[in-house]
Amino acid sequence: MAGQDTLTVIDNRTGKQYELPIECGAIRTADLRQVKTSPDDAGLIGYDPALTNTATCKSRITFIDGERGILRYRGYAIEELAEKSNYLETAYLIVKGELPDERHLAMWKHNVTLHTMVHENIKKFMDGFRYDAHPMGILVGTIGALSTFYPDANNVQDLESRRLQTRRLIGKLPTLAAFAYRRTLGLPYVYPDNDLSYTENFLSMLFRMTELKYTPNPVLARALEVLFILHADHEQNCSTNALRSVASSQVDPYSAVAAAVAALYGPLHGGANEAVIRMLTQIGSLARIPEFIKKVKAGDGRLMGFGHRVYKNYDPRATIIKKLAYEVFDVTGKNPLIDIALELERIALQDDYFVSRRLYPNVDFYSGIIYQAMSFPVTMFPVLFAIPRTSGWMAQWAESVRDPEQRIARPRQIYIGEGARKYVSIAQRPEPEMREEAVSPEI
Ligand code: CMC
Repeated sequence: MAGQDTLTVIDNRTGKQYELPIECGAIRTADLRQVKTSPDDAGLIGYDPALTNTATCKSRITFIDGERGILRYRGYAIEELAEKSNYLETAYLIVKGELPDERHLAMWKHNVTLHTMVHENIKKFMDGFRYDAHPMGILVGTIGALSTFYPDANNVQDLESRRLQTRRLIGKLPTLAAFAYRRTLGLPYVYPDNDLSYTENFLSMLFRMTELKYTPNPVLARALEVLFILHADHEQNCSTNALRSVASSQVDPYSAVAAAVAALYGPLHGGANEAVIRMLTQIGSLARIPEFIKKVKAGDGRLMGFGHRVYKNYDPRATIIKKLAYEVFDVTGKNPLIDIALELERIALQDDYFVSRRLYPNVDFYSGIIYQAMSFPVTMFPVLFAIPRTSGWMAQWAESVRDPEQRIARPRQIYIGEGARKYVSIAQRPEPEMREEAVSPEI
């Protein structure tokens, strides 16, 4: 059998042998269904909570080699894109699969820029949130609400509709994000300035005050371009998986992206950059780092911005961001938290707890330090992740709805609850004290 692309499985319950095809280094777990102990057995299933070793799709968008710390979009190294590209060009690459020529890039910029405005009702909608609403919560709500403004987006199998929704979402995300930010400060909303680049316009919508035209600092605008490139896609992470799962019901992309933003909000995902700053601020000084590391090692909290499901090496995005931080500090002045971060990293990379678990800095470890130096409040950090990730989500969405192998996502479960029981009328149920013990303590 050696040299064949198959896996031989012997079921020791029955002694039967099965040949499962191997394609692209994977077996189809559906092939396990034939492994049965009897004809009425539903067949073997795979158990993989958190999908740690299950591919849910074939994709041509992003390649990651976590062992070697490699990240590529459509075959292009992240380091090269971060150095030479800009966000809209990278978004084109991610969405369309190739780098654009000059004419196509100009058309793409025009088409995206055309959609930077939002319906005036969105502003009223935003006003309905509580005064201290987290901008990420506002983003989830307003992106979901966009589906009601564009009912044509339901037509997910239509290529032209998909293109239009992609431009709309990439165009509108900075506007929604900036409005959410201005609202938390009680400042009037600033409308898009389409003469500016994608990141310059975003800075203008955030920070413009009474001046007629906002002049963004070119170093900060470029830093944001780089950060946006680094965050544009990351294959099947938690939010992209949420997006694909929700989109598999063929719902419109605004609803699916709202689900992705909700997933990104969590502190183990896009909310980690916010959590890193809170952690560094709490540590407060170099002297308190050993005590903090000791607590983490004892299982009391995590070193936020460290560790990754896929990278078992330095996250290549973190390397770029660390360098970028100093370019930003030349303009903004140094964020003192960088010293605590560097010392934490130095200690963690020598400590057996982190070394043995292969925990390295991830994209979120240094990004928040830059955002804070650029005067963004911490609550905006995950929002700054969501804006560029929209191009990745739209590419992943388009790929999934076009994929003939994709059907509605519907995982299996292993049922471990009660067997069949007879309904007991309320008068005949046990006394409250006895019932307490039977009720699951988690709920
Ligand atoms: N600090 C301390 N211990 C950690 C950390 C950490 N940041 N991350 C993982 N561990 C330990 C964990 O306790 C476990 O130890 P043990 O085997 O003794 O139980 C071991 O390492 C494996 O951890 P895990 O939770 O099973 O790993 P995972 O692949 O399920 O989780 C992760 C990946 C990113 C959620 C996790 O590393 C983490 O919580 N990191 C901190 C949050 C963070 O920075 N998230 C941003 C991820 S990058 C941006 C993005 O794409 O979302």
